[in-house]
Amino acid sequence: MAITDTLFSAAKAAMEKAYAPYSRFPVGAAILAEDGRVHAGCNIEVVSFPEGWCAETTAIGHMVMGGGGRIAEVAVVAEKLVACSPCGGCRQRLAEFSTAETKVHLCDATTGVVETVTMADLLPYAFDTDALDDSLAEAGDAGQL
Ligand code: THU
Repeated sequence: MAITDTLFSAAKAAMEKAYAPYSRFPVGAAILAEDGRVHAGCNIEVVSFPEGWCAETTAIGHMVMGGGGRIAEVAVVAEKLVACSPCGGCRQRLAEFSTAETKVHLCDATTGVVETVTMADLLPYAFDTDALDDSLAEAGDAGQL
């Protein structure tokens, strides 16, 4: 099976587990880590609406709890959208564990991958750790870290 098919299947299976009683907009995401493992997640909502979180965020949590790693590719699928694109917050979270070239597969729940883009496409001019280097060094020098 092609890796994109594997990721699509994992994202779709995760989507089936979504807890989205408020938006009724189930989403699934599946990360292929650089070590070859697949980590999936669904969106999880809370009655206090801003407290819910996205499928991509759950998948990242699973990768980190599985021992961490870097994202090689990721697939996202939503039941009610032909090509679900990660939200702004999730783009920043995915970028934390990706490179500019990391592939993001936007999927349709019935047909599979509709479009493949890169993290650079999704998050140009990203806020990066370079911007933090000086302040992190200063905090380290001041014994704050
Ligand atoms: N959602 C995701 O899970 N991922 C995205 O990238 C976009 C939005 C979820 C959040 C919320 O549970 C529902 O979709 C409607 O916004």
